[in-house]
Amino acid sequence: MTTAGSDPFSEAAIEALLAPAMRRLPPPTSLSPLPYDLNAGVPDRDSLPWRELLEATRAALEEDAAGALTYGGQAGYEPLRAWVAERQAAETGLPVTAANVTITAGSAQGIDNVAAAFIADGDVVITGAPTYPGAIRTFRARGAQVIDVPQDDDGLVMPALARVLDTRRMTGKQAKVIYVTANYDNPSGSTLTLERRQRLVELAREHRVLILEDDAYTGIDLDGPPPTSLFAVAGGRGIVRCGTFSKTVATGLRVGFIVAQTEVIARLVLARFDNGGPPILHRLLYHYLRSGHYDPHVARLQEIYRERRDVTADALRDLCEPYVTFRTPRGGFFHWLKLAPGLDAATVFRAAAARGVAVTPGTGYFANGGGEDRIRLVYSALPPADLRKAIEAFAEALAAVAAGRE
Ligand SMILES: Cc1ncc(COP(=O)(O)O)c(C=O)c1O
Repeated sequence: MTTAGSDPFSEAAIEALLAPAMRRLPPPTSLSPLPYDLNAGVPDRDSLPWRELLEATRAALEEDAAGALTYGGQAGYEPLRAWVAERQAAETGLPVTAANVTITAGSAQGIDNVAAAFIADGDVVITGAPTYPGAIRTFRARGAQVIDVPQDDDGLVMPALARVLDTRRMTGKQAKVIYVTANYDNPSGSTLTLERRQRLVELAREHRVLILEDDAYTGIDLDGPPPTSLFAVAGGRGIVRCGTFSKTVATGLRVGFIVAQTEVIARLVLARFDNGGPPILHRLLYHYLRSGHYDPHVARLQEIYRERRDVTADALRDLCEPYVTFRTPRGGFFHWLKLAPGLDAATVFRAAAARGVAVTPGTGYFANGGGEDRIRLVYSALPPADLRKAIEAFAEALAAVAAGRE
């Protein structure tokens, strides 16, 4: 140890060495130690398919141990890419093949891969207001200027997006990427309507801006399938779709994928600096996906999350109105609450925490301010009885804040 002030690698010295964009980054969200965690957007622990994954691991190693335990290349395990491509082709009606797919460490790495390939210091990225904070962090870490466009219950508001794109065109520095979660957005739960998907694609084409579709929640369909996929509406051109097995299999796997036209895939592969993802994970997941367990598992998850969504929505309506209003989402993990006038998210967050309930204030989901009247509630992680108790405690917190007791 060196004495304070003389340490060449002190906290301040390390800070000074950081890339400038990193100094301004907020920390990522984390799990809460409180008894009722309605903050972390994680899947149900009890339904993690660990036995099936264990079998799949054994099968993958027995089939080709050397292949599973040796570098596998930047694009990922070819049979897994082909499996993803087949599903995407069936969903979109487009001729998607393994050449249109790379395997990533979740949707998060997909977003970073796109940012690494396309975003330079000072480039503009358009997001929703609100949007996924992980995406804001990723774009900012690459030096992007994030401009946000309002979202309502049906997703990104198109006239507002058109205005931003027109303004950018006039400045002579058009945005490079529009980042959007078309299905079951985090945090708003919104699903972009078909008309808006069509308009988004038109606008992106007119202004030559790439669409980055974050598909993290597709599959968590709670009221039937979503509208025609944005990727299909775009004909698979000018769009990069980042999907994941995090929400339908396990977040701990860290396996996701990118689907895009081959010209884009070539650049994304070039912008991978990790020697590719882990072949063993790609292979065990491939075995699992083909085992016949995957589709029934997703169907079971849909039932579990539908019940949790509905239990939470009923409890919110019974116990928390008139302090909150919300629209029930068609899929995903979140209720996005609007607080009644006079209630603010930071105070509600503290009052809920004091009663053992972790919720997320809306402010973290806005790149450029906003969300003081919003709270995000996760319904995916806790069983129904706990959700009901959590909402009872949350209702007490709301009442206390409304009465000026907090
Ligand atoms: C919208 C969105 N995108 C991406 C991610 C990251 O997911 P993954 O585990 O696939 O990296 C999340 C995780 O919560 C998310 O909500």
